[in-house]
Amino acid sequence: NKAKMILEKDFKVAEIDKRIYGSFVEHLGRAVYGGIYEPNHPEADENGFRQDVIEMVKELQVPLVRYPGGNFVSGYNWEDGVGPVAGRPRRLDLAWRTTETNEIGTNEFMQWAKLTNSEVNMAVNLGTRGIDAARNLVEYCNHPSGSFYSDLRISHGYKEPHKIKTWCLGNEMDGPWQIGHKTADEYGRIAAEAAKVMKWVDPSIELVACGSSHRNMPTFAEWEATVLDHTYDHVEFISLHQYYGNRDNDVANYLARSLEMDDFIRSVISIADYIKAKKRSKKKINLAFDEWNVWYHSHESDKLIEPWSVAPPQLEDHYNFEDALLVGCMLITMLKHADRLKIACLAQLVNVIAPIMTEENGKAWKQTIFYPFMHTSVFGRGVALNPIISSPKYDSKDFTDVPKLESSAVYNEENEELTIFAVNRDLEAGLLLECDIRNFEGYKVVEHIVLENDDLKQTNSAQATPVAPHTNGDAAFDNGIVTAFLPKLSWNVIRLA
Ligand code: AHR
Repeated sequence: NKAKMILEKDFKVAEIDKRIYGSFVEHLGRAVYGGIYEPNHPEADENGFRQDVIEMVKELQVPLVRYPGGNFVSGYNWEDGVGPVAGRPRRLDLAWRTTETNEIGTNEFMQWAKLTNSEVNMAVNLGTRGIDAARNLVEYCNHPSGSFYSDLRISHGYKEPHKIKTWCLGNEMDGPWQIGHKTADEYGRIAAEAAKVMKWVDPSIELVACGSSHRNMPTFAEWEATVLDHTYDHVEFISLHQYYGNRDNDVANYLARSLEMDDFIRSVISIADYIKAKKRSKKKINLAFDEWNVWYHSHESDKLIEPWSVAPPQLEDHYNFEDALLVGCMLITMLKHADRLKIACLAQLVNVIAPIMTEENGKAWKQTIFYPFMHTSVFGRGVALNPIISSPKYDSKDFTDVPKLESSAVYNEENEELTIFAVNRDLEAGLLLECDIRNFEGYKVVEHIVLENDDLKQTNSAQATPVAPHTNGDAAFDNGIVTAFLPKLSWNVIRLA
């Protein structure tokens, strides 16, 4: 069982936009309340933010956090979340059938993001609201002073503008579950008009138009084309969302899902370029994969949540080892598209389908998916290389020719580092990797990190971390060739410098 790979410094996909290592915090379940914010927790700082959570977010080096939703944003009045906390209304959140207390709002979240060294990707409500609320929020956040909303921000104690650069024009507006669901034409029109005036308030912002909620939406492709037809000149990005699950317990097929993700990305690029051609435009629209992850473990338990409760444990997927492998494959897939994929948000960050979990009044802990995400975010900075791979293949229920080796590499010229990310999808056997890195003379293997486990269904918990990486991989470099044994079903990070 052998796979070969060739890496050349000059076989470049593109410089990686660090925003592909973004994540997402929605007002949903225990993401905000009990996740990032728990004022009575012993680890809480003077603002009520859990410092143990902040530390873990910093470990992940998340450069961008999408906020405040998600489905939540389509019913959200941003004005409810600013000003004195005592005067903020409690509202029914129709998206998740809970009660929103509004203790945390825009300013508090901006403060939290600063503590984690992240920028915010702010979403505006194009469900129940529209261009007026959107342009007012841009004015509130980004205008220095001397206007109603900028002065309101200052009166709330935030003299400096937040300077939010990246904005989402609503969320999943193609979905019938969305508050204020729209047809592609309805959404395209409102998104274009909102975009226009938001940029009139602050021309430096970048905007993401909503693409489809997932690849199997009946309106997929037609939706993107219509929305971009309306918005092309006003936006920089079109979004993609996708979650996977292993409901039928078919691991070989599950781990191949990243091929579907690859196809989804290619399709959206084609659609964006079709509209470019149609408009004879010089402008290129890039992709924002602003929701992606595994999500299915919590579907049944979520049906038992008491309606209208405050911050109940919703979408608390406990990820197992095989989920971490698929997350690794998805990250590698995104690296392969670094030329057009410039933003991606792991959905989500804390407690809600998240790499970080918290116990009420207790510990914060790392899920299995924490590790591939952290490794890629920390070591995957620089230029994504285009590897030439020859790998044994397999067929599964929905896929043919699935390469057993899923791999990509990142060259950090500044630090003179080369990092190979690799998943061995083989269920039965290890894979011997031979990687020709001909023009990286003088490089040495710094470490070979491996995430492996005999039990595909193994999860972590607050008490124990049985799924954690070790650095006992055997990668070696000799005569221009890196050789490494990739254990069966494993995530590998081979670092050279
Ligand atoms: O991330 C959870 C939910 O998934 C988001 O609120 C929504 O946009 C998507 O359907």
